[in-house]
Amino acid sequence: MQALMLLFWTGALLGHSSCQDSSGSPQEDSSGLDTTGVPMEEEDPFFKVPVNKLAAAISNFGYDLYRVKSGLSPAANVLLSPLSVATALSALSLGAEQRTETTIHRALYYDLITNPDIHGTYKELLASVTAPEKNFKSASRIIFEKKLRIKSSFVAPLEKSYGTRPRILTGNARLDLQEVNNWVQAQMKGKIARSTQEIPSEVSILLLGVAYFKGQWVTKFDSRKTSLQDFHLDEERTVKVPMMSDPKAILRYGLDSELNCKIAQLPLTGSMSIIFFLPLKATQNLTMIEESLTSEFIHDIDRELKTIQAVLTIPKLKLSYEGEVTKSLRELKLKSLFDWPDFSKITGKPIKLTQVEHRSGFEWNEDGAGTTPSPGLQPASLTFPLDYHLNQPFIFVLRDTDTGALLFIGKILDPRSI
Ligand SMILES: *[C@@H]1O[C@H](CO)[C@@H](O)[C@H](O)[C@H]1NC(C)=O
Repeated sequence: MQALMLLFWTGALLGHSSCQDSSGSPQEDSSGLDTTGVPMEEEDPFFKVPVNKLAAAISNFGYDLYRVKSGLSPAANVLLSPLSVATALSALSLGAEQRTETTIHRALYYDLITNPDIHGTYKELLASVTAPEKNFKSASRIIFEKKLRIKSSFVAPLEKSYGTRPRILTGNARLDLQEVNNWVQAQMKGKIARSTQEIPSEVSILLLGVAYFKGQWVTKFDSRKTSLQDFHLDEERTVKVPMMSDPKAILRYGLDSELNCKIAQLPLTGSMSIIFFLPLKATQNLTMIEESLTSEFIHDIDRELKTIQAVLTIPKLKLSYEGEVTKSLRELKLKSLFDWPDFSKITGKPIKLTQVEHRSGFEWNEDGAGTTPSPGLQPASLTFPLDYHLNQPFIFVLRDTDTGALLFIGKILDPRSI
């Protein structure tokens, strides 16, 4: 077993992590601090690529958003594609005057990026993560109150970098709902159900982020091995759910002895992968794991996991979400956008953010590309296979492995519903 014990450092993360800041800890070498007191570490070459650096920044925003959302509803599943929300905010920042732009850029961690062309790099990132082979769709939109006159100097760069046009409400609730539904249908190719929620009449600025993903495993599951099995909601309650299994799965694995969880990564087609965080015992309290999630931590995990063979069981999953992330965003240093923002690059009239909506769909089943593991995946020699059963609450992170971008994050307390 010793060979499988991987010790990850969870405290000393790069500069701006949302984890407990380690900069004051005694073991920090003072020569490792720059003049601002931010711990400097040799930056991984991966993050020197501008698109990867941007992906890390907005993914860190994504982990922040996830943490707040999960904290607001500790007993519920969470399904979130933070990228679509980040995209809407980044696009909106094109219309923000300096103090408001700074607010948005801080929340998205752009203040840590020295890149003169963030919006151009964003376009590159979106093109990369929504390439057809990724099976991931994401779209964002800015919707304004009725009769608002918008400056063309805002619309042009919005279209250029984010490929989206702002929408101005008609004020007719039925028509507006229909139009938004049609837009979502067109963007998501019909994979997300139409909403019945009318757009509130008091909207000033509404941001809408939508996303859909259907995973294709690199190695597909044998559907004859799928059966109803126990899922432990916690130490007492158990439900039956359809579980896929593979007695000889090849996966990448590590035991995090600080977080008390077993981490596994399964590859998907299109340079995508899912990382699972499974506590050692059944619990709905995943706070410790959640606190440690940052782009840098996930990147390090990705490098340290070891290829092994395992007896794998994993619930079939089909989840959808429709709701607001307004309250969560208010808690993310973005409160001023809802109170007294300066969007005078968009219009002469005072406008403010009133609502942020998210709709998403996510599924995986047995589908995959091949029946045998790719030749690149050769397990370390083991005398016995390990068990990895996702039959109790877990967290998953869907990442684009090319850029490191976080595309979906989920807290699965009960696989039967969202
Ligand atoms: C969840 O776990 C954390 C850390 O282990 C602990 O601080 C917290 O109090 C727990 N929360 C609940 C609701 O039990």
